Amino acid sequence: MTAQMDRASSIDIASLIQHDRIHGSLYTDPAIFDLEMTALFENAWVFVGHDSEIPEKGDYLTRRIGRQPVIVARGKDEVVRVLLNRCTHRANMLCRADSGNAALFRCPYHGWTYANDGRLQGVPFREGYDQEMAEMRSELGMAQAHQVEIYGGFIFANLYGNAGSFDDYIGRAKGPIDRLLSLSPEGRIELRGGWMKHRSAANWKIVNESQVDGYHPLFTHESVYKAIMPAKVDYASDELLVATRDLGGGHNEVDYSREYQAQDAEFIWFKRTPREKMAKYVAAMEAAVGADETHKRFVDGPPHTFIWPNLFLAEMHVIMVEPVAANESIQYTAPIHIAGGEEINARILRNAEGAMGPAGFLIADDGEMGERNQAGLAAKQPEWALLSRGFSSEVQEDKGLTSYDRTSETTQRAMWVHYKELMTEDQA
Ligand code: FES
Ligand SMILES: [Fe+2]
Repeated sequence: MTAQMDRASSIDIASLIQHDRIHGSLYTDPAIFDLEMTALFENAWVFVGHDSEIPEKGDYLTRRIGRQPVIVARGKDEVVRVLLNRCTHRANMLCRADSGNAALFRCPYHGWTYANDGRLQGVPFREGYDQEMAEMRSELGMAQAHQVEIYGGFIFANLYGNAGSFDDYIGRAKGPIDRLLSLSPEGRIELRGGWMKHRSAANWKIVNESQVDGYHPLFTHESVYKAIMPAKVDYASDELLVATRDLGGGHNEVDYSREYQAQDAEFIWFKRTPREKMAKYVAAMEAAVGADETHKRFVDGPPHTFIWPNLFLAEMHVIMVEPVAANESIQYTAPIHIAGGEEINARILRNAEGAMGPAGFLIADDGEMGERNQAGLAAKQPEWALLSRGFSSEVQEDKGLTSYDRTSETTQRAMWVHYKELMTEDQA
């Protein structure tokens, strides 16, 4: 056992998470980061990609589950598998491209080849091996995640098959995924615009917390409100019917739908774009679900929902967080394409450039806050970060624990309650 693991096993995680405060070391301690990668990623359900990223047989993409590299591949039998990106000979990484199409993965070291379903296909100079190896051959395919499930095209994997059922894991997060798909006349979305990646010197949980923080926008994103979004909603108003909600299982959201319904106006969430500018899309929706239902969906808009532990449905974008180290993470963002909505898709792309790109308004601001958050944590006093905002405003509803104070920290507490459960399972 390494000294760091030894120390990790002696950390009393439960004592570091109080109902109203979080200990700063949870964002900075490398030993805690190690525990998280094991407990929250490698032994848990995590998001690994969207099936529209690998539509054809042989398509693949590379990702990581915790710190383990994986290849998400569609085999020639159409099945999506999550393969460990490691040669079974002497462990070379098989694939270094972000994505591609391949019938075979060939190890660059000694040339072993694997089919895109992971089976070992070829071993050069095989006469150098004895009979025992020949008999083992069928066991020398690439290792695979034990469980892979797809919901609404979103692919989730559990590496070791020990994290309980997918239904229990996804829980109430199905509703927001359905809400997103309901904006498509075909009931589908696609991620085919590629991912932008932002590496930042911030803990992965800091990145997640800010996605669903309803308290910061007026300050962190002041320039957005001044420059480009004055028409959307009066965000300074105390009267807004915006909910922050703990959906259970670490999932949580900021839900604007009641405010939009109160105004009964379409596309408030999309710069109030008039429907005439997307006439074909509107017609396709009305043909698919009728005029009334179309109006309702255009009013309600997309979800603003975090799906534990690494997926954020950011309205018309998807965000995925990849932890790198206690003080480093990569934030991936992708624009959503609505199947059957080319006119809205063109606008979403422009929106992605304005909001999510390196010169954009939103991610750049949040990235700066994340790094400053991490930098501030280097000061060890006071020891705790507060997370008590909006406690007394919470009510238990069918949808989850809800506060109608949009600045309530209900969303962050939702993550920490679940974090504590998972991180202390073995310590209990
Ligand atoms: S390590 Fe892959 S073929 Fe040797
Ligand atoms: Fe933000």
